[in-house]
Amino acid sequence: MENINGGNRKKAPGNRTINVSNEEKKTLRQTLTVINCPQKLDNIINRTILGNTFQIIQYMPVAFADLIFIDPPYNITRDFNGVKFNKISNENYFKFVQAWLPQIIKLLKPNGSIYFCSDLHSTAVVQQALQEHLHIINRITWQRDKGRGAKQNWKNNMEDIWFAVVNKKNYYFNVNAVKQKRQVFAPYTENNKPKDWQMSDGGKFRITHPSNFWDDISIPYWSMSENTPHPTQKPEKLLAKIILASCPENGIVLDPFLGSGTTSVTAKKLGRLYVGIEMNEEYCCISEKRLLNANANKTIQGYADNVFWERNTYNMQKKSGQNHKQPSRKNPIPTTLT
Ligand SMILES: C[S@@+](CC[C@H](N)C(=O)[O-])C[C@H]1O[C@@H](n2cnc3c(N)ncnc32)[C@H](O)[C@@H]1O
Repeated sequence: MENINGGNRKKAPGNRTINVSNEEKKTLRQTLTVINCPQKLDNIINRTILGNTFQIIQYMPVAFADLIFIDPPYNITRDFNGVKFNKISNENYFKFVQAWLPQIIKLLKPNGSIYFCSDLHSTAVVQQALQEHLHIINRITWQRDKGRGAKQNWKNNMEDIWFAVVNKKNYYFNVNAVKQKRQVFAPYTENNKPKDWQMSDGGKFRITHPSNFWDDISIPYWSMSENTPHPTQKPEKLLAKIILASCPENGIVLDPFLGSGTTSVTAKKLGRLYVGIEMNEEYCCISEKRLLNANANKTIQGYADNVFWERNTYNMQKKSGQNHKQPSRKNPIPTTLT
């Protein structure tokens, strides 16, 4: 029986959280990359780099990344597996971001894009920092659909993801790769034929352009096969949208705050190259385990038949032509290092 965090606590039935046992850690640790001098691209591609981003970025080649996904600690007090980020003033958070953002931008190709995550308390600072160096193209608002209720306030349910580019006249963006399949509730007809919608997979659907309000992605939870113990893990579906829109096939995605590995794993599943940096060894091992799992299973929950489905449509997705088989506890995906 797999234990939580390699300890003695047993998992509840149906809990598919990915943990690494102490035994697995011994092997996974050996697959991590440690660097302390300038590196050629070949030495960092498709690697999980263990270390402090602020030191490691100086050893990376310039202008190699098509896409950089930045999900740093937000300006709230939080414990990342023993390493605490303490809330600071807005002014100091701005200085914190400014200390490394220009160095990270140097790693971006001239037609590349940056997506920078923030919350209510850091969004203004992130906007200000980004617009000093890049062109802001959009602000995506993600309705996480999870957050603490408050007695004297509205529940905080949103995050902002800022989308910025080096050159606003020349950046890669593939809107056709990120269309949404939405149920139609007022199905218009013309000459008794559907107007702009199709009958398929047990419902009436329209394929639509995606907007900058994302309400179709939930936070990973314990019964999802992508879930890990990381406290602020991003969903693969969220990364899939960003990668498909802003990184060409075989392009390179960099994540300087890799956490549980979501960016690298999703890039791998979608046929992109990846570079991830994370200072916590436990999280690096989780990333490596997920990357191994991705050899056998390229499924991304909520993305099938080259479109993004709404929440709670899994049964309809199963009816459509593609293979939507999810790994189960009876038939888990292999996690060995061979
Ligand atoms: C918000 S989390 C990222 C979560 C990630 N997107 C995921 O899906 O799991 C930020 C991560 O940055 C890591 N981190 C913070 N400061 C760092 C630094 N200086 N160098 C490398 N990693 C760092 C933390 O350990 C944490 O795992």
